[in-house]
Amino acid sequence: MIPENQNKALRGWQTSARYWDKYRGLITEMFAPLTTGLVEQAQIGIGQNVLDIGGGSGEPSLTISRIVGPTGSVTYTDPVAGMLESAHAEAARRGVTNIHFRQCSANDLPFDTCTFDVAVGRLSAMFFADSVAAVREGLRVVLEDGPVAFAVWGPSEANPFFSTVTDVIDRFLEGYPQNSDPPDTFRFAVPGELAGILEQADAKNVTERQLNFRIEAAISFEQFWQLRTEVSETLREKMARLASAQLPTVKQAVAEAAREYFASGTMSFPAAALIVSGKKPGT
Ligand SMILES: C[S@@+](CC[C@H](N)C(=O)[O-])C[C@H]1O[C@@H](n2cnc3c(N)ncnc32)[C@H](O)[C@@H]1O
Repeated sequence: MIPENQNKALRGWQTSARYWDKYRGLITEMFAPLTTGLVEQAQIGIGQNVLDIGGGSGEPSLTISRIVGPTGSVTYTDPVAGMLESAHAEAARRGVTNIHFRQCSANDLPFDTCTFDVAVGRLSAMFFADSVAAVREGLRVVLEDGPVAFAVWGPSEANPFFSTVTDVIDRFLEGYPQNSDPPDTFRFAVPGELAGILEQADAKNVTERQLNFRIEAAISFEQFWQLRTEVSETLREKMARLASAQLPTVKQAVAEAAREYFASGTMSFPAAALIVSGKKPGT
């Protein structure tokens, strides 16, 4: 049975799915360096059979489907129906035929042992219900010596794309009861944390590297504000707790905090992620 807090999280993702779909172009552009990091780490190439765990609105599946080409394939997975529908519709729009879609949780992958060359997860490992069990599942379904690789956010302080908004809003919400659910986005931000999970799951050759990049797009602060307050379930909840009379002041305070990241119609935030990988041990 799925625990209630996991159910609540999945309902949140279901609501978020329409916004991930709405902003798919920007999300693809902003987070492309993470996909590149995963592809390099897992050495994904032509003809491979790749599993994407927690594929959201379609990345990295859509990018990897081009890399593996017609002789390879990608299996997209996500437990949330709305995410799968969004990714599936986009693949159909683009005429992509080498992605297979399965609605499932990382903790229970409906695939035979030794099915894939590689398994990857971009910004999804933080949300796995039982991370050790999920990584074990990933390792189970790749071939012997096959890599599993995950991209997760580094510390909040190194990611002002998130913190400039949340820090300001949290200041305005001081004194209000806070949500009991821990913020999961930075669950594996501490170096060594996710690598330790891979080790506990018996992965071999575990590696971790910090990826410093810039989250960039040709958008204004106004568009950034709209994207951030719509896409994030946590921010949607926090915004709902603010009085409507407070909203212009909060937005102005965020605009000031974010001013240095916007110039000449372009947004550019420094960002830090961790790329953590390991391999399936031989028998
Ligand atoms: C931040 S989004 C990332 C989506 C996409 N990979 C990307 O980078 O654009 C996190 C995704 O993890 C999925 N997720 C949540 N719980 C999960 C679980 N237990 N197993 C696999 N995926 C999960 C969510 O539905 C959501 O699509």
